[in-house]
Amino acid sequence: MTTHSDPGPGAAPAIELRGASKVFRTPSGAGHTAVRDLGLTVRQGEFVAVVGPTGCGKSTTLTLVSGLEEPTEGQVLIGGEPVTGIRPEVGFVFQQDAVFPWRTVLSNVMAGPRFRGVPKAAAKERARDWLGRVGLAAFEDRYPHQLSGGQRKRVALAQTFVGEPRILLMDEPFSALDVQTRALMSDELLELWGGASAPDTAASVVFVTHDLEEAIALADRVVVMTAGPATVKEVFAVDLPRPRQVESVRLEPRFIEIYREIWSSLGEEVRITRERGAGHAA
Ligand SMILES: Nc1ncnc2c1ncn2[C@@H]1O[C@H](COP(=O)(O)OP(=O)(O)O)[C@@H](O)[C@H]1O
Ligand SMILES: [Mg+2]
Repeated sequence: MTTHSDPGPGAAPAIELRGASKVFRTPSGAGHTAVRDLGLTVRQGEFVAVVGPTGCGKSTTLTLVSGLEEPTEGQVLIGGEPVTGIRPEVGFVFQQDAVFPWRTVLSNVMAGPRFRGVPKAAAKERARDWLGRVGLAAFEDRYPHQLSGGQRKRVALAQTFVGEPRILLMDEPFSALDVQTRALMSDELLELWGGASAPDTAASVVFVTHDLEEAIALADRVVVMTAGPATVKEVFAVDLPRPRQVESVRLEPRFIEIYREIWSSLGEEVRITRERGAGHAA
């Protein structure tokens, strides 16, 4: 008799979408399909970027993975288990900062651990550690309105990483920043993530952006979504060595080659979306 050994929890992909669709009900009662038949696998410690035209369903895809919304059809799995709600091991960074304006920087970063029952002294220590890593050690007593956009984004990153997420979901997190701050934040994100040096312990990342350059500079693989309702059109491996510096990596010939290749897929979907927009305006 043969016995099959248990593949163990390490064998399951970190994130898996299987034929996942999401239909929203509109005020008129009709159904609006936001994403359809999504199939995607993210490995442990992998950095995946999702690109697609505006309004195609990128954010919806993330809300399915986060457990904020349930798929209408299909399955969403984390570590091989169906997602049934928001999980403590999932960290989320949005385009808008999710900081409390009436709390200091330190208190903002402590809030998550405190909420999860970490004693005050330990929460403070962890928060200070992460504030140090994002370069805000000297700013712990400031309030969010006393910070620059980039500094507020660093608070948001510290807030997220202090929870030691196994899964990190990012929805256009840097799109409100100026170009230089954005490049800086991308480099800092790659360092905080640590996937280049410690793939076994690094978080598995899904990073949504409409910016193809940003996607290639950051990711191990780039997923191109179709015009809405989105499904996965093509997946591209980014074989650029790590560690990467986003400002310099984008000048490399291989980067430009990859960019051309992916754009030939993505550009078509962007055009379709634009033409629809023009149709609506007419
Ligand atoms: N909660 C919701 N209820 C109804 N429609 C929604 C909801 N969230 C998103 N949509 C619609 O689903 C589509 C995809 O939206 P979204 O995922 O936000 O796109 P993206 O992030 O790619 O710009 C859009 O047409 C949007 O209007
Ligand atoms: Mg969005």
